Amino acid sequence: AGTLGAAAAQSGRYFGTAIAASRLGDSTYATVAAREFNMVTAENEMKPDATEPQRGQFSFNSGDQIYNWATQRGLKVRGHTLAWHAQQPGWMQSLGGSALRQAMIDHINGVMAHYRGKLAAWDVVNEAFAENGSRRSSNLQSTGNDWIEVAFRTARAADPSVKLCYNDYNIENWTYAKTQGVYNMIKDFKSRGVPIDCVGLQTHFTGGSSLPSNFQTTLSSFAALGVDVALTEVDVTNASTSQYAGLTQACVNVPRCIGITVWGVRDGDSWRSSESPLLFDNGGNKKAAYTSVLNAL
Ligand code: XIL
Repeated sequence: AGTLGAAAAQSGRYFGTAIAASRLGDSTYATVAAREFNMVTAENEMKPDATEPQRGQFSFNSGDQIYNWATQRGLKVRGHTLAWHAQQPGWMQSLGGSALRQAMIDHINGVMAHYRGKLAAWDVVNEAFAENGSRRSSNLQSTGNDWIEVAFRTARAADPSVKLCYNDYNIENWTYAKTQGVYNMIKDFKSRGVPIDCVGLQTHFTGGSSLPSNFQTTLSSFAALGVDVALTEVDVTNASTSQYAGLTQACVNVPRCIGITVWGVRDGDSWRSSESPLLFDNGGNKKAAYTSVLNAL
């Protein structure tokens, strides 16, 4: 296959990218994105600060811009994200306790109602664990340890057809405490019937470190709990070809690894642009890492 999306589709997977609404007018960006990918995540436009800037007043303009652009071109869309300690609107940052708990529930209901039946998946909860494997402290965590399962139960009721994912970073290494913390939560959710369908591993790999040799073990271990896994925000310092090939191969080797999303199109579009971590250079040309990914799919 001649594109990332088509190559991934040969094994029933997708290959996606983060899209920024503000860049869609850039023809190189839009052309490369529409040609190569078959899944899209809004880089910022479906986050709580974007979708509910004032309490109870929802704003879907930029999220819909991305949704419409993608679906008009045959690309699917992942929703990102409903409950997160970061990128909360100011009004939410200043809430706590039962008021924040209710605001979280109302937010999930409001956003999911708008996109009901339209998305492939939602990252319902993002980045709720600390590096030591315990829960990250946040205003949401302070509302009670059950905030994550309440978010998932609310989400399932709001849109029964969309896949519900837990998403986090630094959960790629199987022996890492944070990976184990997330794994134990998913195991507990599955044993108690808390609705969850997928785990997103952000896969932001940083310099020097090679691909964890147990990365595939992490993917297959999560999958063995009865959830799909996906690599949701991939970028790699200097776009190491071996790391890109390795992470792609790990996904391909695990039947329930359903797709890979890179966190941007060209290096200059990346939140880590100084590390040139993506698959296309600033001219929209394919880098060596592109070929290593395509060959591994
Ligand atoms: C990043 C975006 O890429 C930036 O544009 C923004 O300023 C901050 O957020 N984990 C996530 C993503 O789940 O939403 C983050 O995206 C990167 C880290």
